[in-house]
Amino acid sequence: MALPYLLSLFLVSSLTLFNLADCQLTEDYYSKTCPDFQKIIQEIITVKQMSNPTTAAGTLRVFFHDCMVGGCDASLLISSNSFNKAERDADINESLPGDAFEVIVRAKTALELKCPGIVSCSDILAEATRDLITMVGGPFYKVGLGRKDSLTSKAVEVEGHIARSNMSITEIIDIFAKKGFNIREMVALTGAHTIGFSHCSEFSYRLFNFSKDSKTDPSMNPLYAAGLKTLCANYLMDKAIAAFNDAITPGKFDNMYYLNLQKGIGLLATDQAMASDPRTKPFVDLYAKNQTAFFEDFSRAMEKTGVYGVKTGNQGEVRRRCDSTNKS
Ligand code: HEM
Repeated sequence: MALPYLLSLFLVSSLTLFNLADCQLTEDYYSKTCPDFQKIIQEIITVKQMSNPTTAAGTLRVFFHDCMVGGCDASLLISSNSFNKAERDADINESLPGDAFEVIVRAKTALELKCPGIVSCSDILAEATRDLITMVGGPFYKVGLGRKDSLTSKAVEVEGHIARSNMSITEIIDIFAKKGFNIREMVALTGAHTIGFSHCSEFSYRLFNFSKDSKTDPSMNPLYAAGLKTLCANYLMDKAIAAFNDAITPGKFDNMYYLNLQKGIGLLATDQAMASDPRTKPFVDLYAKNQTAFFEDFSRAMEKTGVYGVKTGNQGEVRRRCDSTNKS
């Protein structure tokens, strides 16, 4: 292995350290003002996840998309009105499932009854995401609390902050790097694709229209490709058709996503590319071999995501409703 490559691997392989207190967040923020905060969220998400098992994945994606655009401030939960097109209606957010928004609204309603005007929507989203991940088998990690909710939400501010499935690994590394995440953290976070779905439109070109020489992406396992072709045959007519991100254990948060990538069973081109690009492959191989390493790195990277760009003090507000600011 060339020395510069080894050196770059070393440089990107460590996880950045940070302190919750530096971000003015604390785990016991509501211990006096809303002592039942954790319990109420647990009750709401348990009922919701049991009746709609896709809630965990949807909520995790909503959390991630919220944090990446202007910080974890629940700006994604705001609804558009006649004066403003909100983040939620940016094209990349259109596929976010209603169940994820609904579980946060339910938790907010329950919390407003118990402790009115105290708990922010951004804290509810952060806590519910962690609890849902844990509920489907993923790791438990610390969630600092005390975020304020944003005062604005603009669809035009979304572009360029969230990776798309047709981007190159270099473009994706760049998006994450601009937010302070290194390659190791990026690969660990994308392990979120161990749960949930993707619509056929996100990967259909890999099945039907890949290149002049090959209609199907040769990096895709042929049996897997054949199954997906059947599943997605009518995707142009029925835009709702979707496949599991992790075809083997779709509802369980585990390291199967990485094991699948090693076998060509990656759904999105970007997922599959991570298993071959020399900058990302070492981490795919590490997490495929060692679920504990994946859980530790994922936890750390989620803690870091959760403090990204948070608003405290008078930088924001505690919304009365999660879908609108207190002024509107
Ligand atoms: C590396 C760059 C990434 C790309 C290109 C990407 C792209 C996508 C796409 C296209 C979908 C399918 C959306 C649909 O059709 O409904 C998806 C689903 C999902 N993504 Fe990502 N993603 C990336 C990273 C992440 C990260 C870092 C997280 C969380 C930490 C995440 C969490 C999820 C989850 C949980 C789903 C399933 C959602 C559901 O079932 O409703 N993704 N992603």
